[in-house]
This record gives sequence, structure tokens and C-alpha cells, in this order.
Amino acid sequence: MEHSRDDGDITARLDFIGLDNKGRDALRSVEPLIAKHLPEALARFYKKLATVPAVSRFFSGSDQMNRAQSSQLGHWLAIATGRFDAKYVESSRRIGLRHAQIGLEPRWYIGGYGVIVETLVTELARDFMDEHIKSLKGGSSTASMMRKFSRLRCPISASRCQPWSNPS
Ligand code: HEM
Repeated sequence: MEHSRDDGDITARLDFIGLDNKGRDALRSVEPLIAKHLPEALARFYKKLATVPAVSRFFSGSDQMNRAQSSQLGHWLAIATGRFDAKYVESSRRIGLRHAQIGLEPRWYIGGYGVIVETLVTELARDFMDEHIKSLKGGSSTASMMRKFSRLRCPISASRCQPWSNPS
């Protein structure tokens, strides 16, 4: 039966893309961050989608778009848990079928994934960088150098202003 073939196959496909147990643990560890940025990633995606007639034509209006957006939120939250079980496979199949039924070509569907993932990766990288900068300590750290640099720059800029404020 096709179901059992797909269920067994998922492990091989996850391994193929590098989402083995370790990868799934890593994914789970950033689940709260993904959940935090998802609404914005999806909002951007649907905003963009609305400006592209080749894909916006699949929606009858904003109500349907909002419905798809909230369904999609659930799908991504499921991905973020890193549990790619039979329930996930079944849900993915249903979603894929829905898009095939409306006649959405895979290139748009896959492109859509790319647009959403781009926002998520950018925001996660920003979170990690912020966290890293906060944790930098000590005289030789980049953060400390930057602080010293800005302290140095302020007096220099201020002294440059002097002739303008006092031209004599
Ligand atoms: C250009 C890309 C896309 C277009 C034009 C599009 C369009 C649509 C449309 C018209 C629906 C039907 C809404 C309804 O049930 O009334 C839908 C549903 C849905 N879409 Fe998309 N979609 C796109 C990409 C994606 C992507 C990348 C995902 C990611 C998983 C996704 C997830 C969903 C989900 C979860 C549903 C609800 C399916 C259901 O429960 O039946 N879509 N989409």
C-alpha cells in the first residue's frame, strides 16, 4: 500500500537531507525561535504572494488567504518540533494534494518554501548574533573594542564641530 511505502521512506529522505537524529535535536532546540518568527515570515510571504498575479489568482480573496496562512502556521510549527512521524507524513500528503488540486505548479510551491525559510534563517541568525554580542566579555572582545571605538569617535566628532559652532 502506498501509505506504508511513504512512512518507511521518510527516514531515508530525512537522512538524505541531513535531518538525522542529531539534526532533528538541533531543530527542536530552536523551536521557540522558529515559533517567535513564524508569524512575521508568513505575513511577509502572503504579502509578497498578493503582489504576484501568477500565484495570487489561486485565492478568491483575503479570507481564503488568512485561512491558508493559519493552516500553514500549524504545518511549520509541526516541522519545528522535529517529529516527522506518520501524522506528519499524512498531513504533508494532504497539503501537497490540496495544492495539486488547485493546479499550483511545484516550482511556485517550492519557491514559496524558499521565501519563508529565508525570513526564518535571517531572523534566527540575527537572534544568534545578538546573543553572541551580549555574551562577549573582556578587554580584547569585539564588543569591547566597538565600545571603545565609539567612545573615541564621539570626542573626535565633537571637537570637529567646534570650529563650526565657534568660527572665530
Ligand atoms: C505560491 C505558493 C502557494 C500558493 C499560491 C498557495 C495557495 C494555497 C491555496 C489557494 C490554499 C487553499 C486555501 C483553502 O483551503 O481554502 C492553500 C492551502 C494551504 N497551503 Fe498553500 N499555497 C502556496 C504555498 C504553500 C506553502 C509553501 C506551504 C507550506 C507548507 C503551504 C501550505 C498550505 C496549507 C497548510 C494549506 C491548508 C491545506 C488544507 O488544510 O487543506 N502553501 N494554499
